[in-house]
Amino acid sequence: MRRTRLENDTVTRARVSMIFVCLASIPAAQAEPAAAPIRYDESTRVFELSAEQVTYAFGVNERGELQSLYWGGRLGADDVLPAAKSDAAPSSFDPSTGATPQEYPAWGSALYTEPALKISFPDGNRDLVLHYLSHTVNGAHLVVLLKDVSRDVRVQLRYDIDPDSGILARSARIENHTGKALFVQQSAAATWNLPAGDDYLLHSLSGRWAAEWHLDRRPVLASQTVLESRRGSTGHQNNPWFALARAGTSEESGPVWFGALAWSGSWRITVEPDVKRRIRVTGGYNPFDFSYRLAAGAALESPVFFAGYTQGGLGEASRLLHRFELTHVLPQAPHPRARPVLYNSWEATEFNLTEAGQMKLAEMAAQIGVERFVMDDGWFGARDSDRAGLGDWIVNRRKFPRGLQPLIERVHALGMDFGLWVEPEMVNPDSDLYRRHPDWVLNFPGRPRTEARNQLVLNLARQDVRDHLFRVLDELVTQNDIGFLKWDYNRNWAEPGWPGQKPEDQQKLYVSYVENLYWILQRLRERHPKLEIESCSGGGGRVDLGIMRFTDEVWPSDNTDPFDRLSIQDGFTYAHTPGVMMAWVTDSPNWVNQRSTSLEYRFLSAMQGSLGVGADLTRWREQDVQTAKRLIADYKGIRMTVQQGRLYRLISPRDGSPYSATQSISSDGRQAVLFAFLHSSSMLYPYPRIHLKSLDPQARYRLRVLAGKPEEGTPVEASGGYWMSDGIQLMLKGDFQAAAIVLDRATS
Ligand code: DGJ
Repeated sequence: MRRTRLENDTVTRARVSMIFVCLASIPAAQAEPAAAPIRYDESTRVFELSAEQVTYAFGVNERGELQSLYWGGRLGADDVLPAAKSDAAPSSFDPSTGATPQEYPAWGSALYTEPALKISFPDGNRDLVLHYLSHTVNGAHLVVLLKDVSRDVRVQLRYDIDPDSGILARSARIENHTGKALFVQQSAAATWNLPAGDDYLLHSLSGRWAAEWHLDRRPVLASQTVLESRRGSTGHQNNPWFALARAGTSEESGPVWFGALAWSGSWRITVEPDVKRRIRVTGGYNPFDFSYRLAAGAALESPVFFAGYTQGGLGEASRLLHRFELTHVLPQAPHPRARPVLYNSWEATEFNLTEAGQMKLAEMAAQIGVERFVMDDGWFGARDSDRAGLGDWIVNRRKFPRGLQPLIERVHALGMDFGLWVEPEMVNPDSDLYRRHPDWVLNFPGRPRTEARNQLVLNLARQDVRDHLFRVLDELVTQNDIGFLKWDYNRNWAEPGWPGQKPEDQQKLYVSYVENLYWILQRLRERHPKLEIESCSGGGGRVDLGIMRFTDEVWPSDNTDPFDRLSIQDGFTYAHTPGVMMAWVTDSPNWVNQRSTSLEYRFLSAMQGSLGVGADLTRWREQDVQTAKRLIADYKGIRMTVQQGRLYRLISPRDGSPYSATQSISSDGRQAVLFAFLHSSSMLYPYPRIHLKSLDPQARYRLRVLAGKPEEGTPVEASGGYWMSDGIQLMLKGDFQAAAIVLDRATS
């Protein structure tokens, strides 16, 4: 049945339980009956969640607090963890309540580390102390109920453990049973407590427009480190992902604790050692400017915070997350189809669209093997530049006098599906929508409003805005045969006021806006099951596990320079699967930095992800067309390995390295794909010898060269042991050179 109205609260609940159902319903791969993933020992009051190589445990201590006990390698089935016992106060300055690592510490008693929950009551009381009340276990799903020591504020802590990876999903539901409204001032999804240590290195991802996905590494010092967005959306500045590794951990070995927050609004993750040097990681809604009035009887759901542990270094942490995203997060999980090869017209035409011009590009795209043709910005309203038209999702009849239908039919006749660019959450003041509804934008009345790219942000927290956008998009997709939407979002919030809303409820914006965004995406997918969606925000400004539940791919960066892309793509893969990482081949010299590279180099760089072409095909020479045809055909033969296989970052392009190499191996182990890139040779040094990974040492693999040249005498077939131990010497010399090699298993 089609539902057109749903209250925010219900949507949130549906969102959380959807993930839990998904985790619980996928059976573990092992053949023998698996031990129960969640155990509760009555005598010690200890909860133990175990799956794959991981155990996570906590217990109820003598005061009734929920206390973290263990998170690391899997413990034996017969191992008994001692009951939780609060930490003695190290000094009068650090009383026991704050020194004890709680699972979900509320701000109250003596807490000096980051609280997971902070509440202000109408009588001025702001003290909250949560104690265990009850719990329920259902397969791999656990709910623990906590309650304040004197007031009827309850917190449901939800835990799920994925049987395939040991990745945990945690979230919290804050319930107000006090009979009076209260204000939630801070509310996290979870606090994760790691073992004590002074040798942790925090890994995180930072950036800005056209320079996203930079991997930062820093020691965890005595002060708090904050990763966050205050921008209303995920943001380019930090990605809601972390990895904490002990000293000595490398790409392929050593302990790593990692996590990712599933939220596309303002978010925050803090990392800090407590007084006993245990590392506390707390994440959820960003408390900056946050205030959520919880009416009597109402509840607030947190986002979901996923986290995992591995002994296999940063590479294995990434591979676990990649698999988890593919099998549990993405809309087509657990079996996402291969990403089609896409053409996008933006860099070729910008706003200068015509029916004839698009048809010409579509014909050329089909000729080289493209499977999806996407028309970007400029097809609607008075959109001749970024100064007008946003909000008016009506075909521009000057550019498309016959509407979109003839173009769509032509694209289909050429054997491709058709995709369209939209930026639904924004409006140009010079638009019919804004002229009709000036009250629909975020602003503080009477104050200046910050425009960015000449646009304002629609207040999607308003139900009329939400319903309008859903209706417009639903009509667009219903009336035209559209298989794909590129959903863009080209600025961040400023002056986040909600005129018309009661002042005490205005800051609900931070939650309701994102809930309504998810609501639209979810309903569009329900109404149009074949529709696929890309999340784009001026590049990689909205990539997180929240939006990834509704979008099939993401646009990591507007920076399409193939060399810059190597480090952008390298950083991206720490948190996200290459299966969603859209990468275009564009023109040379590239607009970003005027760097010139060969078409083959550009293709190989883009083939590390989900391949797209964004060049002006009308300017291509016949030999370019032939190169593109060949490499697109090659890509189709390796894309499942690249998109959904296990990725090994063999040589990182970071820190000024002139080299970069990745290897992907298919899930069935039958195909390995190697990409290698050289920035510039110097001093007669050869390219580093490449040793492949994770092949079957006994099996035979045949070598196929897609681009580049291995040294003379390299066997065409050898054992996995040979390719891993003796390796391959590639003859890469010069500037911006690249090679791609495929190893196909020759023996069964
Ligand atoms: C920003 C996107 O990242 C680009 O790819 C393009 O779609 C433009 N917006 C269009 O305005």
